[in-house]
Amino acid sequence: MTTPKTGSLSIAGQDESGPRSQFGNPRGWLGRLALMSMAWKNGRYNGAARDALDLQAGDTVLEIGCGPGVSLRKVARLIGPGGFVSGVDYSSAAVRMARHKLHWMIHRGRAQVLRASAETLPFETGQFDKAYAVNSFQFWPKPQEALVELARVLKPGGRLVIVQRSAGPDTTSDFAGAQGGWDRVERAVEAARQAGFTVVDVTQEPAGKLVAAIAIFETPACVVEG
Ligand SMILES: C[S@@+](CC[C@H](N)C(=O)[O-])C[C@H]1O[C@@H](n2cnc3c(N)ncnc32)[C@H](O)[C@@H]1O
Repeated sequence: MTTPKTGSLSIAGQDESGPRSQFGNPRGWLGRLALMSMAWKNGRYNGAARDALDLQAGDTVLEIGCGPGVSLRKVARLIGPGGFVSGVDYSSAAVRMARHKLHWMIHRGRAQVLRASAETLPFETGQFDKAYAVNSFQFWPKPQEALVELARVLKPGGRLVIVQRSAGPDTTSDFAGAQGGWDRVERAVEAARQAGFTVVDVTQEPAGKLVAAIAIFETPACVVEG
């Protein structure tokens, strides 16, 4: 295995190289290029996430690792003027691009994009109806802490969707680490269970030559006071 050089436009196929790659943490002009390619290539995975979220008018929705902000803008349109979307990303290049993409929604008080990391979310407890992450989970430095944070900021009965690009059973392609996609989903399922989520479904949808591997979770419907 070759280790990508710092600053190279590598596709993050290996989890350990992820946070250093331009897809795991976009930086500078190469990062902007990576963000543009995400906007172009990740549509099917984000579409699968939006379907799994079962979005309703007026929902409050959080995206972790919102990248270029294309999907977040679509979510804002789907939930309408009574809803609110928050996007977080730890890359300042991603935050800038997503803010630009959502400029109109932010101006009308329907959206915000914040620079933050998944494991320390700058939100109140029980603030969101739904949360999702697409092709981002594999880069989280502390996935277990992040899932505990997500359980905190979701309302009781709130839904979390994690989508990973993955190879289907008949696919030999390892594009962007697709052969490891199901392992990532399994890791997410294990960590989510430990964080107190219920697993609603683990499924897949065709996404070109690859599949979108989709894990759907919910927080317990009510919190029992001890
Ligand atoms: C491959 S991109 C995917 C972007 C977008 N979700 C999409 O589907 O196009 C992964 C994004 O997750 C962000 N990211 C990775 N780990 C993160 C973390 N722990 N907290 C916040 N953002 C993170 C990266 O900065 C990057 O913008």
